[in-house]
Amino acid sequence: MRTSILGLWACTWTTALTTSTSGLYSLIERRLPSHSGQFEFHLEEAHNTSVAQNSKYAISTASNGSVIICGGSLSALSVGLRHYLSDVAHVDIYWFIGNELDKAASPLPGINGTITRQSTVPWRYFFNTVTFSYTTPFWSWKDWELELDWLALHGVNLPLAWVGYEKILLDVFQEIGLTDDEILPFFSGPAFQAWNRLGNIQGSWSGELPRSWIDSQFELQKQILERMLELGMTPILPAFTGFGPRALTDLYPNATIVNGSRWEDFPPEYTKTTFLEPSDPLFADLQNRVISKQVEYYGNITQFYTLDQYNENDPYSGDLSYLRNITRGTWQSLKAANTAAVWVMQGWLFYSNENFWTKERIEAYLSGVEEDSDMLILDLFSESQPQWQRTNSYYGKPWIWNELHNYGGNMGLYGQIDNVTIDPIEALASSSSLVGFGLTPEGQEGNEIIYSLLLDQAWQSSPIDTKQYFHDWVTTRYSHSSNCTSAPSLPSSLYTTWELLRTSAYNNTNLKSNAVPKNIFELAPNITGLVNRTGHHPTTLNYNTSVVFEAWKFLLSAAEEKEELWEHAAYQHDLVDITRQVFANEFLSAYNTLISTWNSSTPSANTTSTISSLSTTLLANLQTLDILLLALPQFRLSTWLESARARAGNNTQLADFYAYTALNQITLWGPDGEINDYASKQWGGLVGPYYGKRWEVFLDYLGTVTPKTYNATVARDDVKAVETAFQLTGLRSALETNGQEKSVREVVEEYVLPFLRSIGLL
Ligand SMILES: *[C@@H]1O[C@H](CO)[C@@H](O)[C@H](O)[C@H]1NC(C)=O
Ligand SMILES: *[C@@H]1O[C@H](CO)[C@@H](O)[C@H](O)[C@H]1NC(C)=O
Ligand SMILES: *[C@@H]1O[C@H](CO)[C@@H](O)[C@H](O)[C@H]1NC(C)=O
Ligand SMILES: *[C@@H]1O[C@H](CO)[C@@H](O)[C@H](O)[C@H]1NC(C)=O
Ligand SMILES: *[C@@H]1O[C@H](CO)[C@@H](O)[C@H](O)[C@H]1NC(C)=O
Ligand SMILES: *[C@@H]1O[C@H](CO)[C@@H](O)[C@H](O)[C@H]1NC(C)=O
Ligand SMILES: *[C@@H]1O[C@H](CO)[C@@H](O)[C@H](O)[C@H]1NC(C)=O
Ligand SMILES: *[C@@H]1O[C@H](CO)[C@@H](O)[C@H](O)[C@H]1NC(C)=O
Ligand SMILES: *[C@@H]1O[C@H](CO)[C@@H](O)[C@H](O)[C@H]1NC(C)=O
Ligand SMILES: *[C@@H]1O[C@H](CO)[C@@H](O)[C@H](O)[C@H]1NC(C)=O
Ligand SMILES: *[C@@H]1O[C@H](CO)[C@@H](O)[C@H](O)[C@H]1NC(C)=O
Ligand SMILES: *[C@@H]1O[C@H](CO)[C@@H](O)[C@H](O)[C@H]1NC(C)=O
Repeated sequence: MRTSILGLWACTWTTALTTSTSGLYSLIERRLPSHSGQFEFHLEEAHNTSVAQNSKYAISTASNGSVIICGGSLSALSVGLRHYLSDVAHVDIYWFIGNELDKAASPLPGINGTITRQSTVPWRYFFNTVTFSYTTPFWSWKDWELELDWLALHGVNLPLAWVGYEKILLDVFQEIGLTDDEILPFFSGPAFQAWNRLGNIQGSWSGELPRSWIDSQFELQKQILERMLELGMTPILPAFTGFGPRALTDLYPNATIVNGSRWEDFPPEYTKTTFLEPSDPLFADLQNRVISKQVEYYGNITQFYTLDQYNENDPYSGDLSYLRNITRGTWQSLKAANTAAVWVMQGWLFYSNENFWTKERIEAYLSGVEEDSDMLILDLFSESQPQWQRTNSYYGKPWIWNELHNYGGNMGLYGQIDNVTIDPIEALASSSSLVGFGLTPEGQEGNEIIYSLLLDQAWQSSPIDTKQYFHDWVTTRYSHSSNCTSAPSLPSSLYTTWELLRTSAYNNTNLKSNAVPKNIFELAPNITGLVNRTGHHPTTLNYNTSVVFEAWKFLLSAAEEKEELWEHAAYQHDLVDITRQVFANEFLSAYNTLISTWNSSTPSANTTSTISSLSTTLLANLQTLDILLLALPQFRLSTWLESARARAGNNTQLADFYAYTALNQITLWGPDGEINDYASKQWGGLVGPYYGKRWEVFLDYLGTVTPKTYNATVARDDVKAVETAFQLTGLRSALETNGQEKSVREVVEEYVLPFLRSIGLL
């Protein structure tokens, strides 16, 4: 037995568990092949795996140099592995730039004694139902492999697993007598499946979901589930919600079927989804078929089922007895299909439709699940809009504290570092039914450090010291360009950059503008209503933009000091991302000046030249930013569109349809701009050709009118024409711009710096 530096616990070397650690050795083979054979995993027989418990790990090095990790669960072992790799070997695995673990030094650095840690919560959750549409819909198996390794190494042990659900529904609806012609038109396009699964929308515009999509996603799901299990995760599978094709009413005229409410401004044909009431015997029958079909296809691999019936969709009645019956019927159907079933529910509705969901109604609704442990609630937006206090910890139901952070995968530097470290720990002390921490981002965007922070907080019993955390992040993120076993020496300006960001953009405390901000250039141009927006897509900036500009200058100076940084993947990514923010902030500032100048213009005052020169600046900003973003694939529209096309194989017609849904989602979002710009992106190929074009037509018009002669209809029609045209031209232009990119260094030197000088910022 080894001594622990914390004196709490250490390896006891018993390895009698049946659970195999082979998935972790495979991870080593995938991510650090040159170090295979240098890690040993020992799973301690300390846990009853059917009960969620906290688990520990201990890391030490043997005299032959091997790294030995002991732990109480596969998840603890993989967290121990990352702890060693990031804190001792200074390598990590990242979103967007990928695996850097293979850069670990040889021989591996040793440690003195033993490092131990214990989780503070048994469950670490990941995904929002909509992440499956905003981020992953077109992912290949290779993309999924990277994601699942990232999740395992960050301790996620309870991920949502929605992929391929349509195959299960299709089979089950066929079994009860519906035809393919009745079922397939119910499904939504590849980029919109999440909202179909939530019952918000039905059907598909501009094309129908083909069988080939359903079948290939099902095959992908089998791979995903197998890997999740191998890495010690318990997948959360879908269940029958009640939503189904309209033809259900014809086939079962006596079944209790109602329509859901209208979602956003969607035309009725695409919303008001058919909903079979859980009190109907047909509901239990369908539930049993859905659960059994999954057991048949995937094995009896989980007791957790995700099931949302009223996400942004109000119940047919607010009657307390009705609400209780809904949950009771649903719960009984789950238990009848799998006696171990636990119903996992997004708690979003209690916040988003707060007017409907009074405390009495929430209590009645939750009371239908008569065993508290049969339910698990995701408090979905805990860092800004927590609901657990007002619901007395969901009246005793187990729940998870989640960081949502962004809507629609919008892009902007943003974080609530105090909140995601201090608050979950406080919640743990004050709510006995809190059983996990998790991430529920709508999209997987930048700001990775703020997401990692919460998952790492799940292994610390007091709030993480974020100053130290940022310092360590910098060391690991930019180190491995040299083969050294101790922390490398990096330009101090890198540390300064991140410290400035930590205390500005990453320290939002204004809960009125409470998620990743958009920039106004992503919105349809207007003379009013763009700036100072609060809420979920704020355009308010809660930091001093000059601090972020300082941070950018320090980052740039790091490459002057250490030239090889220009070739470093993380440096390139971060420089593009922070430059993007600098440009966006400058756009906002120039727009404000332009509008106030224009507002003061009268036929006698000559403001034309000011307006015209500011217009030129705004457009040059977007054109320059577009060129910068095209330098890296992770910031390109074409990457998103091509991933969609790739799912269609050789079928170009299908590829066009998939790509159309991908483009429509991030622009008009709906056949006619129903939630226009909700999922906007600051991507090369979009910023110039789309947002730039919208602003160009708008600014051209603005230059010809004064506040007295401005006609909003004319302005809107011009912009709308660009939006409509881009649904087609965008698909083509993205393909054309591909391959025209320059290196990050070239773009910075040839475009970025000259532009910033031209506006007097440098
Ligand atoms: C690190 O250095 C050692 C010895 O100097 C060498 O054997 C090893 O291949 C190097 N590893 C990497 C990743 O460069
Ligand atoms: C381990 O401990 C020895 C003796 O105290 C010390 O010389 C060495 O630097 C330590 N190594 C590490 C990696 O901390
Ligand atoms: C519906 O109910 C009516 C009246 O109870 C009954 O006559 C009819 O057979 C039922 N139809 C079906 C399809 O069950
Ligand atoms: C709820 O279910 C109970 C028991 O089945 C029934 O008596 C009651 O009428 C139902 N309430 C509503 C509003 O449907
Ligand atoms: C699945 O496993 C659970 C225990 O986790 C068990 O209660 C249930 O009966 C099993 N279902 C099937 C179909 O084997
Ligand atoms: C975090 O957000 C919550 C609720 O939105 C707020 O009450 C709390 O004060 C915030 N905590 C910190 C540390 O900022
Ligand atoms: C974040 O801002 C709040 C309010 O201004 C301040 O109290 C807190 O110390 C700041 N935290 C950090 C890490 O800068
Ligand atoms: C936006 O907010 C800033 C800071 O409070 C204020 O100076 C400015 O006038 C506001 N602009 C508009 C258009 O409301
Ligand atoms: C207004 O400005 C424009 C552009 O600078 C110039 O051509 C024009 O002569 C000016 N008109 C007056 C009345 O000063
Ligand atoms: C594409 O077409 C070629 C030739 O018809 C065929 O060999 C290939 O398998 C097809 N690929 C896919 C992915 O369907
Ligand atoms: C604004 O333009 C529209 C479309 O050209 C026109 O129908 C309308 O009369 C104009 N409104 C005003 C107040 O001029
Ligand atoms: C600007 O916003 C107002 C208010 O939302 C809207 O009525 C108008 O159509 C918009 N104008 C343009 C040009 O989009």
